Amino acid sequence: MIIKRRSTMLYRDQNIILGCMRIADKPIEEVKDLIQTALDLGINFFDHANIYGQGKSEKVFAKAIDELGIDRSSIIIQSKCGIDAKTGTYNFSKTHIIEETTKILERLNTDYIDILLLHRPDALMDFREVNEAFHYLFDKGMVKAFGLSNQSSTQMEMMQKYIDFPLRFNQVQFSLMHSQLIDAGLQYNMGTFHSQDFLLEYARTNQIQLQAWSPFFSGFFEDIFIDNPKFPEVNEKLDELALKYDVSKEAISVAWILRHPVNFQVVVGTTRSDRLKKIAQAKHIQLSHQDWYDLYKASGKILP
Ligand SMILES: NC(=O)c1ccc[n+]([C@@H]2O[C@H](COP(=O)([O-])OP(=O)(O)OC[C@H]3O[C@@H](n4cnc5c(N)ncnc54)[C@H](OP(=O)(O)O)[C@@H]3O)[C@@H](O)[C@H]2O)c1
Repeated sequence: MIIKRRSTMLYRDQNIILGCMRIADKPIEEVKDLIQTALDLGINFFDHANIYGQGKSEKVFAKAIDELGIDRSSIIIQSKCGIDAKTGTYNFSKTHIIEETTKILERLNTDYIDILLLHRPDALMDFREVNEAFHYLFDKGMVKAFGLSNQSSTQMEMMQKYIDFPLRFNQVQFSLMHSQLIDAGLQYNMGTFHSQDFLLEYARTNQIQLQAWSPFFSGFFEDIFIDNPKFPEVNEKLDELALKYDVSKEAISVAWILRHPVNFQVVVGTTRSDRLKKIAQAKHIQLSHQDWYDLYKASGKILP
């Protein structure tokens, strides 16, 4: 029996998540090294989706976990469905959600995933079907918790009205350079910026756990901004703060996201252990109020 209530946040201690979108074609020994490095750094939360590498990412991950002898209960596995790669549409039908989640479990070689996210909003969704699919997956023990991805606060609120389970997560694109969620609040009421959503405020009010994907990209799979000559000002500031806090520029970029009181989890997609170690330095620092704002401005935004 599910009691519908506001979300309480899960896995708050995990502020960095290892995204597995890019591991599909990596040699198994490299994937094992990456996962072991993550665990050694205290990162035990892994993000997947049924479409990553057309399912291959989940399979490679499962093989690595098996060969490393990692206990299933010691890690958190999240995956997503709702993008139908075969038809090139978004699909939140009951059949699609159940069938795709069943395949996810097979590929991951596990009885359950800790979290299922619906990847991108299906404009034609029928809430009753989503609700029935969630009941099925929860009652069978296949999924422990649910959330969304790439959805606005209005979409979340609307869906929550019809779903019996708390929608605890929303995974959205967010970085120092791709920071519209912050801009929306800071530049409210300015003619220069027309916000359509206030997701950060909604998440804080309703205890929704936000996850930031592509934390090093400047736009939708555009450019990595770190050490990119296209973005001199932000790189100058990152260099200065890396020196000041004695960490990498990657860590400063992640620390900038973590400094916001919405308490983001940052989903990083590196496939390199050495890079992951640099990123994880973010766990040990907190940017000052002044440094946070200076970086925001160096990333090209103005304060009205
Ligand atoms: N919900 C969604 O719609 C959605 C969409 C996209 C991604 N995601 C999730 O978010 C995760 C992260 O996404 P992402 O991989 O696009 O994010 P990212 O961590 O911003 O980018 C990682 C990519 O950038 C490269 N890179 C180059 N220079 C880098 C530097 N200095 N620091 C860090 N990375 C650098 C990495 O290469 P190396 O591998 O060589 O380090 C890797 O290919 C994915 O794995 C996936 O789980 C979710």
